[in-house]
Amino acid sequence: MSSPGGGFGDNVGMTTSDKNLDSIRAVQWQGDHLRLLDQRLLPSEERWIDCRDAGQVTQAIRDLAVRGAPAIGIAAAWGVAMAAQQKIDLDDVLSTLRAARPTAVNLMWALDRMKKRIAAGADADALLREAQAIQDEDLAANRRMGELGASLITAHSGVLTHCNTGSLATAGYGTALGVIRAGVAGGQIDHVYAGETRPWQQGARLTMWELVRDGIPAKLIADSAASHLMKSGAVQWVIVGADRIAANGDTANKIGTYQLAIAAKYHGVKFMVVAPSSTVDMATGTGEEIEIELRDATELLSTAGQRTVVEGAQAWNPVFDVTPAELIDAIVTERGVIERPNSIAMQAMFGW
Ligand code: MRU
Repeated sequence: MSSPGGGFGDNVGMTTSDKNLDSIRAVQWQGDHLRLLDQRLLPSEERWIDCRDAGQVTQAIRDLAVRGAPAIGIAAAWGVAMAAQQKIDLDDVLSTLRAARPTAVNLMWALDRMKKRIAAGADADALLREAQAIQDEDLAANRRMGELGASLITAHSGVLTHCNTGSLATAGYGTALGVIRAGVAGGQIDHVYAGETRPWQQGARLTMWELVRDGIPAKLIADSAASHLMKSGAVQWVIVGADRIAANGDTANKIGTYQLAIAAKYHGVKFMVVAPSSTVDMATGTGEEIEIELRDATELLSTAGQRTVVEGAQAWNPVFDVTPAELIDAIVTERGVIERPNSIAMQAMFGW
């Protein structure tokens, strides 16, 4: 399944300054298989995985080789298209991929979109075009959200982000990290802080890797330093992504997001959620209804494969939490910005 090497994809259509701020393409269709940058190994190793059937794509999603809500939806869409090329039973493929992870609705959204095309009689070529459209639309959405989100931030601000919401987690550019890329380029953002994001360290391992690679100055903080940072006055916004936004604006995102929102409210720091409309789930009324993925306790009990906690200890490892809409100042999607989100504003933008 693994193969070494691989570049960072083409950045056709980008200006020189864009390229400097966004050079990574972690999900790459190769004509007959899907190439993924293995996010479990970064930053120590840049190894690519070649998925040659939908089962390998499912495994890559489940094991977090590819992760981040939009990226898993895109990978799944390519998995379905690849299965169609290989003339595999698509009903089985759709249901296996759907069960790979429960919280990020982009996975179900992308599979539903592919399913609709299958039901309409699409052949393998048409499904490949649909997967490509899902990927291209995500990149375009991220660029639009970058502009919209950055326009909310006053010049020379400091921001704190959580988890990894960048090129690695999307088709490219990123959601919250896209706003940060746009805000740094536009002069709204002077200082970027990234939380480690225990236990899987998406912030430390992935966000810092992206930011250093693209030349965006940033400082890593321990997750437990966030309130202290906010109290210091160094950040004016917390900017995060989302895995699922319910019909009332409640937002599921990486574990630790909720406590950042509470701390932000206390310190008068604003809180922005950035996600494409594929993350909005109007069929889910409130955050209470969102399934929170529980992962293996070993992710907490070990670091980089080394046991760090005494043998015999147990752990509880929910990997997402829900931030209530009332703690969110702005939800930014490619369709526009909802300030102080609630059911009425969500309904007006997304209908149902
Ligand atoms: O478990 P992960 O790494 O897939 O979780 C990712 C997040 O929580 C991201 O913040 C979210 O998917 C948005 S990515 C643009």
